Amino acid sequence: MEQEKIIFATGNQDKMKEIREIMSDIGDRIFSLKEAGIEADIEENGATFEENAIIKARAICRLTGQIVLADDSGLEVDYMNKAPGVYSARYLGEDTSYSIKNQTIIKNLENAKGDERSARFVCVIAAAFPDGRIITARGEIEGLIAHEEKGDNGFGYDPIFYVPDYNMTTAQMDSEQKNNISHRGKALRLMKEKLKYEGIDC
Ligand code: IMP
Repeated sequence: MEQEKIIFATGNQDKMKEIREIMSDIGDRIFSLKEAGIEADIEENGATFEENAIIKARAICRLTGQIVLADDSGLEVDYMNKAPGVYSARYLGEDTSYSIKNQTIIKNLENAKGDERSARFVCVIAAAFPDGRIITARGEIEGLIAHEEKGDNGFGYDPIFYVPDYNMTTAQMDSEQKNNISHRGKALRLMKEKLKYEGIDC
């Protein structure tokens, strides 16, 4: 059973909290880039969530010689041909506020009715091993683009992501509720299972 350090290639402390909650058995062996003292600016120039997650995980793995996990996530709006997709953070410009991004999506969908408003959050986590092995895990959550922003929790596109089964947006859920059903929660739990097959106990 391997007991080595695992790096999660993110600078986002909210993500780290969620990752430690879900991978509780290895929580104390898992380090963010900052915690591991690594400074790296990796260009996410892949065309898919998988490509971007692998690019990040592989680059940090080569740099450190450690097992590295990395994720890439985003929102796919079917009525917008699955945009913003891998460009979710950069949509309308990295510095544009999410209220403008969200209002623009609502406006783009002003003629879309019912199921035409379908959308999903996608998260792909990649694990890169020093021996070159790569494994990936994908999680998705289906929803509809709301007609107006609702809720103050979460971040990004949460206020316009309506989940019919819960009759609320992901911004109206508390973090535990969201983690249970979210794309990131699903991808993390799947990765945890896949890591077990690779002999990593988590
Ligand atoms: P990244 O994976 O940190 O690059 O995030 C990609 C972008 O997708 C974020 O900046 C958000 O715009 C969006 N996104 C990903 N996951 C979520 C979520 O759970 N809620 C709201 N927006 C999200």
